This record gives sequence, structure tokens and C-alpha cells, in this order.
Amino acid sequence: MNKSRILGAGHFVPERIVTNEELSQMMNTNDEWIVERTGIHERRWFTPGVDTVTNMSAKASRMAMERAGVAAQDIDFIVFATITSDYFLPGNGVLLQRELGMTSIGALDVKNACSGFLYALSVADQFIKTGMYKKILVVGAEIQSSALDKSDEGRSSAVIFADGAGAVVLGATAQDQPGILSSHLHSEGAYAEELYCIAPSSSGSVRISQEMIDRGDFFLKMNGNTVFKHAIVRFMEVINEALDHNMLSKDDIDLLIPHQANLRISQYVQQKLGLPDEKVFNNIMYLGNTTAGTIPIALSQAWEQGKLKEGDLVCLAAFGSGFTWASVLLRW
Ligand code: COA
Repeated sequence: MNKSRILGAGHFVPERIVTNEELSQMMNTNDEWIVERTGIHERRWFTPGVDTVTNMSAKASRMAMERAGVAAQDIDFIVFATITSDYFLPGNGVLLQRELGMTSIGALDVKNACSGFLYALSVADQFIKTGMYKKILVVGAEIQSSALDKSDEGRSSAVIFADGAGAVVLGATAQDQPGILSSHLHSEGAYAEELYCIAPSSSGSVRISQEMIDRGDFFLKMNGNTVFKHAIVRFMEVINEALDHNMLSKDDIDLLIPHQANLRISQYVQQKLGLPDEKVFNNIMYLGNTTAGTIPIALSQAWEQGKLKEGDLVCLAAFGSGFTWASVLLRW
């Protein structure tokens, strides 16, 4: 059985910086409230006509491939995590495949929201373990800002979500080498409507109607309180599950990269695990919550900042819409 290892990570975020001050001109909010409840000072939003999920993910992928020392023609497969693809169909995997000029390799789309990248990484890991593929591009990218209700009604989610892309190249390696140790995936659909977006929907007479537009069905809707309460429980469970599975303890963790849902959630998890600041990577303060993008963007930045050293035990964990939650434990 093969083992898989992240060979390189890359990211891209749009140029446009949106500060809390700018948000407070669009809706009834303020910097103090946003910083206190979410830890976010600013985030990146795309520019229509300039940024797309496809071109942002292509930039992140090129960076990841360059750092991995892998050419586009060496990639065997794409797993693309996003809930905000450029088209309703086809999915973004094929659009990235075209953009990168790759030949007829397979491209799979994963729609598991904030846990999407970890689900995608786990899928890619299985393909490599079985020997089916040797090098897989695993991507998490989103444009969330166009689904945000920027009126007072939508302010609790409008201040959180943002745009960006991250990618890693996952490659086959020998069993005795560093790499992915295990992945753990969960869901609880009973809470689907606590964080969701209705339209475009296939179960009406048309996918998008004037009535749906008037109701704001195309906006992201979130019950922040419920999400928060479940997130802090599930984050802890799934991190402990990964550690127990590998007979490791929280003291063995060199770097925890939590999905950047909300800084208060990351801080709660950090405190419960008793980890010092240097062992937890956060960038939500200046990038917001980019859904499937947060973990690969963080991996790329952590590597740039010298925070990922060969053999380090890295714990990735996520929670989000579905509800879904997941963890991946790996040696860098
Ligand atoms: N600016 C100012 N006030 C706001 C606001 C904003 N952006 N959003 C909500 N409020 C107001 C509410 O209207 C409410 O006012 P009221 O008391 O007069 O009714 C008050 O602030 C408290 O609202 P509440 O929703 O109870 O706040 P909260 O402490 O739960 O914080 C979240 C809201 C969204 C920040 C918080 O619930 C949260 O972080 N949830 C998790 C969200 C998350 O992580 N999502 C990503 C999942 S991947």
C-alpha cells in the first residue's frame, strides 16, 4: 500500500481588501463588534470581471506545483472542493483542468463546504494509497462574497465569509516516509438548514425565479449560535479521534491548522488542547472565512513562514455546513 504526502502548497487571494470600516458603511455593524465576536479585521473580496473561482484556483495550483517541483502534465487527477463554482454545472474541476492545459485527466468536485478541503484531501489520499494515481492536485477555492446579504438582515454572516483559493499537490511516497497518517470524516444532515443557501434549486419548477430572488434565496443563511455550539464540540471530538487513532497525544502536535471559521472557535479549541500560540495557525484576522479555501491557504502561508518543518505532526480540522466535520493528521 502506498502512502501520500503533500509535496507543495500554494494560494491566491483577490487584491480587494474589505475592512470592517467599509462593511459598516454597507450595514449596521462596527469594527468593535466584528473583532470581538469573530476576530476578523479585514477580508478579501473578488472583483467581478477580474477574479473567478477558476482563475484564482489556477494561480494557487501553479504555485503549489512549482513548490512541489511538479509539472502540470505530471498531475494524474484533480479533486476540487468548492460550494461556489463558476457554473451551476459543470463543476469547477474541469474548468481548472482546462485552465491549466492538462490533458484528459479526471476531475472530481466535492461540495462539503467548510469541510470540503479535508474531504477532498481524504479522497485523494485513498486514490494514492490504492495506487490508482501518483500525483493529485487538491484544491479548495471559493467566491463567497457574491452570496452575502450585505443588508442589516445578513450582517452576522456578511462579516465572516470571504474569497480565496488554496491548493496542494499530493504525491505517492514510501510507507516509512512522512505523509498522511489518517483522515476522519463525519456529517449530521439534521442540521442542514442551520447554514445553507437554497438557490439555484432543482426542486422547484425553475431553478431560479423572481419569487426566489425577492425572498433572497440565493443568499447564504446561517444560524450563528447553533453553528458555534456544534463547532466547538465537533472540532474537539474529531481532533481527539485522529490523535487516538494514531496513539498520539495533543502534546505531540507541532502545528494545528483549524478551518478558519471564527477566531473565537479556534481559540476555544486551542485552549481546550492547551496548545501555545506558536502551535496554532490562524489567518482569519486578515482573510476572513474562505470556506473550502481556508486550510490550503493556511498550509501555503504556514510553509512560507517556515512553520512547517519536515516530520512535524500537523493536525488539520474543520467544521461547517451540513453539518460536516473532519480531521486529517499528517507528518509534514
Ligand atoms: N454587527 C453588529 N451587530 C450584529 C451583527 C453585526 N455584524 N450581527 C449580529 N448582530 C447583533 C444581533 O442582531 C444581536 O442583536 P440583539 O441582541 O439586539 O438581537 C446581537 O448582535 C447578538 O447576536 P448573536 O447572533 O446572538 O451574536 P453571537 O454572539 O452569536 O455572534 C456570530 C454572532 C455569527 C459571530 C456567532 O454566532 C458565531 O461566530 N457563530 C459561528 C459562525 C461560524 O463560525 N460560521 C462559520 C462556520 S464554517
